[in-house]
Amino acid sequence: MTSPRIVVVGSANTDLVVQVDRLPTPGETVLGGDLITTQGGKGANQAVAAARLGAEVTFVARIGGDAFGGETLEALRREGLDVRYVAQDPEAPSGVAMIVVGPGGQNLIAVAPGANRRLSGADVEASRAAFEGAGVVLIELETPVEAGLVAARLGREARATVILNPAPAPSVPLPDALFEAVDILTPNETEAAVLSGETSPERAAEVLLGRGVETVIVTLGEAGALVATRSDPAQRAPGFRVEAVDATAAGDAFNGGLAVALGRGEPLMKAVRYAHAVAALTVTQLGAQPSLPTAAEVEAFLKNEGGAFN
Ligand code: RIB
Repeated sequence: MTSPRIVVVGSANTDLVVQVDRLPTPGETVLGGDLITTQGGKGANQAVAAARLGAEVTFVARIGGDAFGGETLEALRREGLDVRYVAQDPEAPSGVAMIVVGPGGQNLIAVAPGANRRLSGADVEASRAAFEGAGVVLIELETPVEAGLVAARLGREARATVILNPAPAPSVPLPDALFEAVDILTPNETEAAVLSGETSPERAAEVLLGRGVETVIVTLGEAGALVATRSDPAQRAPGFRVEAVDATAAGDAFNGGLAVALGRGEPLMKAVRYAHAVAALTVTQLGAQPSLPTAAEVEAFLKNEGGAFN
């Protein structure tokens, strides 16, 4: 099987995680388990997911000049990522996510972006060489939109498939130029509603296709996804039912899996099924990067669980 070349432009965080029996309500203190410190951040999770699935991955990011930043860089290297374009910023703290995980894998996440906020269009432009020959470019929104826009344009120029995972949901409208430079948009239901103003995934997908993207995949958690393209009628892609321990990084795993499968040349619906398997395995373990599966684990899951499609 060929190794797809993927460029991921996005965030890296240190995740501080506590598991609780019940998620706190505003103003409430809940005692939980011991603190778990892991590597996270949507961009880094997507990059690591793709690398564990067999892709050659270049990660473009800005990390903090503090001890967390040093640990993140080491961890990315250990995963075999090309980190030539990961800048350690002496003037910024690392991105940190505070994560509370409750029963059934539900979570609450608040992020201090730190150095992620300083990833610029010029930083991405400086990584132009990495885009040459890339099959897929993957972008999310924990780093500035300007950086994502430059990445999408470089991806287009390189004739790569450009995937934008619009997470977290933006607080201001995204520019038309970004939609126009993206091939595949992968919002979850909430992000699709924020971006389109429509609560039904079908109507949201229609609105978003109208903004210039070729394909919209609205992820629906355990219910799978709605896949809509400009040329074919929208269809539902079922997900896998698993025992959820922690939903953190499920979306990142989905996007990493989708990028790898498309980079290998798989057709869209088959790639979505593969991405669902990667996400399903991820939610069965605690933590973001510790839970991301290898290619062999996904293959075994698909072989054993294929019949358990919802
Ligand atoms: O998508 C999960 C990620 O969101 C976590 O790893 C956390 O860092 C936040 O960025």
